[in-house]
Amino acid sequence: MTKTIDLRSDTITKPGAAMRKAMHDAEVGDDVFGEDPTVNALQERVAAMFGKEAALFVPSGVMGNEICVKLHTEPGDEIIAGEDSHIVVYETGGPGLLSGVQVLTIPETRGVLDPGRVERAVRPDRYYFPRTRLVCVENTHGRSGGSVYPIDRLHELWLLTRERGIRLHLDGARIWNASAASGVPLEEYGRHADTLSVCFSKGLGAPAGSMIVSDRKGIEKARKFRKIFGGGMRQAGILAAGAIYALDNHLGKLAEDHEKARTLASELNNGGKVRIDPATVETNMVIFDIAHTGRSQESLLMLLARAGVLLTPERDTHLRAVTHLDVSLEDVRTAASRITEAL
Ligand SMILES: Cc1ncc(COP(=O)(O)O)c(C=O)c1O
Repeated sequence: MTKTIDLRSDTITKPGAAMRKAMHDAEVGDDVFGEDPTVNALQERVAAMFGKEAALFVPSGVMGNEICVKLHTEPGDEIIAGEDSHIVVYETGGPGLLSGVQVLTIPETRGVLDPGRVERAVRPDRYYFPRTRLVCVENTHGRSGGSVYPIDRLHELWLLTRERGIRLHLDGARIWNASAASGVPLEEYGRHADTLSVCFSKGLGAPAGSMIVSDRKGIEKARKFRKIFGGGMRQAGILAAGAIYALDNHLGKLAEDHEKARTLASELNNGGKVRIDPATVETNMVIFDIAHTGRSQESLLMLLARAGVLLTPERDTHLRAVTHLDVSLEDVRTAASRITEAL
């Protein structure tokens, strides 16, 4: 039987025996009381990794982002975010619903916001304008195929937010990939954001869990919002243990996922049915255009699924493949030849 190669997302990985054992053995307590030693250990560890004072374990990346938006704003404020960012596209209007803010979207170039555009988007201080409170960036950037936000560009934006007295939130669901690919230490990213939201359930392969990282005061406030949003978990150490296992054992493997993505792109290019610019494959995602096939995304996805490769639709005429812990380099080569054959 053909083994299906699932490249839909790096979120589909399943915890292996050793991670499950770590979760099974975790010491736990009631985390809503702040008494789960495993959660506390993870929070301290991740805060230190980003050079920040404190961190808060939350169930998901969306909750991490939405709590951070809430943290920095009052209803009626405005936030600036890239038009293709996760917060704008995939969080079901959360900032409007949960924080009562207006989102001003601006275009990105491979996930990067032009500081000049941001500067022009910041509202002057007049009573009839909404108050601009926050700029959100995403690193790596999902809809640009896992592109890395260059640290010098982030630095420009950071300086601008300091000058204008606004906050910067970094959606770092895949910040680990960004750091592995760019060599920029996590701490350096931490220095360029008031808050970060980072995930353990993407490339790191834990079953669930994200973390908000910030200063102590911000995290205390975030704890209140986590409670309001229904994200307080009790013996969450079972999940935190999976995240700790992932940091210990999987952080170092992200470079392999990036290598798998580059291999997939080059084998697809060699197959001659699609063209992928290798420069666009910066981390663990490969996006390619299928417009020239004359087929819809749905029909191609079905055809590929029958051939034993699962992908996702991206933008109007593209498909996306994501490499992760549960596919090997060999799987990726097989996937490339199945895709080429099917096309
Ligand atoms: C960039 C980015 N931010 C946030 C999230 C949300 O994470 P979750 O699915 O854990 O809510 C995702 C999910 O894939 C993501 O890609």
